[in-house]
Amino acid sequence: MKPLFLIILLAVFSTSCKVDPEIKPELPAEGISEVIPEGWPQPYYRFTENVLTTDRFKLGRALFYEPMFSADNTVSCGSCHQQFAAFAHSAHQFSHGVDGRLGTRNAPALQNLAWNPSFMHDGGVNHIEVFPPAPITNTLEMAETLPNVVLKIGSSAKYQALFRKAYGDDTVTTQRMFKAIAQFMGTMYSYNSKYDQVKHGTASFTASEQSGYSLFVQKCASCHQEPLFSDYKFRNNGLAVNPTIRDSGRTHITRDLADLYKFKTPSLRNIELSGPYMHDGRYMTLMDCLNHYTNSITPGATLDPSLSTGIQMSTQEKTDIIAFLKTLTDPQFLTDKRYSEITP
Ligand code: HEC
Ligand code: HEC
Repeated sequence: MKPLFLIILLAVFSTSCKVDPEIKPELPAEGISEVIPEGWPQPYYRFTENVLTTDRFKLGRALFYEPMFSADNTVSCGSCHQQFAAFAHSAHQFSHGVDGRLGTRNAPALQNLAWNPSFMHDGGVNHIEVFPPAPITNTLEMAETLPNVVLKIGSSAKYQALFRKAYGDDTVTTQRMFKAIAQFMGTMYSYNSKYDQVKHGTASFTASEQSGYSLFVQKCASCHQEPLFSDYKFRNNGLAVNPTIRDSGRTHITRDLADLYKFKTPSLRNIELSGPYMHDGRYMTLMDCLNHYTNSITPGATLDPSLSTGIQMSTQEKTDIIAFLKTLTDPQFLTDKRYSEITP
């Protein structure tokens, strides 16, 4: 009697899970196309060799939110890259991977990735289509092997259907998976912040935001270059070395001591929501970041020359710069259902 009862109960449970369109409605990926916002440079990555289609984008989205990518099927890309935090990991200095293992770097925001010539804080990956193996095989993150992932994804009926739609047959290959993920991540565009509206003449800054913008252009924009708010170069911005982690930064990749403690300049779009900040998430607030530039620049052979005497800012100026930085928040991007986790 007991097992039968259990089976019936399970059956009731599983069907009640499936019929829940209220919670996870199927949403189309309508309107996905390559975008180059007015006044922006040409993107670094183009979709010429990875032709964008709605079905491939949707496959990429399903894979991005797929916990089967991890050894114990608990961690997806979306676990550490959350939409409401501009796809950074909200409130986490470091992210937990499988078994709660902690990494040593902070998960960056994911946005406008098509303009990134390289990925990771140290630029260790140089192509968006070969990115996923890094977190998948990282033992502190997903700790899975690529053959296992292909096996798990390939034996799922859901994915067989999605691959058929995307590629015409259900053959699962790492190349197809990574190209689909590149379609999803590469079209995460954020260009509808208040700042952008001001640039297009459809909104105006408050006095404090305007003052903050002028200060930003003088003091910050040489590295955090408009309109992407990064020059994508590697620079040492004077952070004291964390003695337990001793992250060498760009040198980790180039083995060149001239690159010691240099990290990729991050974009500041959606910066209000993507904290904690810096490659190791050492700062919780934007004021902490500004206080770093005035008070705690650490000298060193590779310190960026423009920061040798720090950056002078009064408390009022800092407040204004923060008011400006908050105009880089793009609510449309942060809530765009096309990028949200849904049942495909
Ligand atoms: C356990 C948390 C975690 C998981 C899971 C994870 N990431 Fe990340 N991600 C990070 C961290 C931390 C970094 C920064 C790594 C570094 O610089 O060494 C990062 C960096 C990135 C970057 C580089 C962004 C940039 O601006 O340079 C991309 C792209 C990315 N992740 C995509 C993915 C994808 C796709 C997956 C799933 C296959 C994934 N991540 C899974 C934590 C995670
Ligand atoms: C010399 C180049 C340079 C200048 C000038 C500069 N920054 Fe940075 N900034 C960087 C680099 C490089 C990083 C990344 C450091 C890291 O990850 O460890 C960074 C990180 C940040 C971060 C953290 C971003 C994140 O996602 O973690 C903020 C906020 C920031 N800078 C704001 C500013 C402001 C505001 C100014 C002007 C007052 C400024 N920066 C001036 C190079 C610069």
